[in-house]
Amino acid sequence: MKLEPLIKNRRNVKPQFFSGEIIPDKLIKELLESANWAPSHRYTEPWRFVVFSGTSRALMGEFQSSLYKETTPVEAFDQVKYDKLVNTPCLASHVIAVVAKNTKTLKVPFLEEVAATSCAVQNILLSAAAKEIAVHWSSGFMPESDAMKTFLGYEPDDVILGFLYFGKSEQKVNKSGKRFSSIQSKTIWR
Ligand SMILES: Cc1cc2nc3c(=O)[nH]c(=O)nc-3n(C[C@H](O)[C@H](O)[C@H](O)COP(=O)(O)O)c2cc1C
Repeated sequence: MKLEPLIKNRRNVKPQFFSGEIIPDKLIKELLESANWAPSHRYTEPWRFVVFSGTSRALMGEFQSSLYKETTPVEAFDQVKYDKLVNTPCLASHVIAVVAKNTKTLKVPFLEEVAATSCAVQNILLSAAAKEIAVHWSSGFMPESDAMKTFLGYEPDDVILGFLYFGKSEQKVNKSGKRFSSIQSKTIWR
């Protein structure tokens, strides 16, 4: 497939629209291999991934829902939100947490590590689109908390860029994309 149509036709698809089909690990590994070809300043390669599949999806649901319960005052507790945090990981075939590792390379600002990790994510999204795998990019629950970083095996000065939910879905072929402003309005030619 040509690259430009792939870029334009890639869509974010929420797990509620996933079929429940399990994607072979081999395909998920191919997506991760694409991620590893992202650019990075001074080859810091700061992208890190934590893959939840099979039974570990439920562990992720358990963890984020308990974190919600622990950090929410009783009067603000929302059972629907809690249930969603418990159940959503298991709607996906795989969930991948994305972390920008603070490599503390003196000559590379951390913002560039985040930029490189974002490139790695886009490689995943485009490779997934080419394989007709649906992906939802979610910020996730309390991504800035030390508790979530520790759960994923990372440090407080690393950054969680979100959680990618993978599945098979009919939705992506039906859902058209939109942009609210043109590229011309976001570009200055000098
Ligand atoms: C860093 C980042 C975080 C995102 N977090 C969420 C999220 O928490 N919930 C959500 O529904 N979509 C999230 N999205 C997906 C966007 O909603 C989606 O990309 C946007 O609606 C554009 O749709 P498209 O990707 O199909 O073009 C996130 C996207 C990015 C880049």
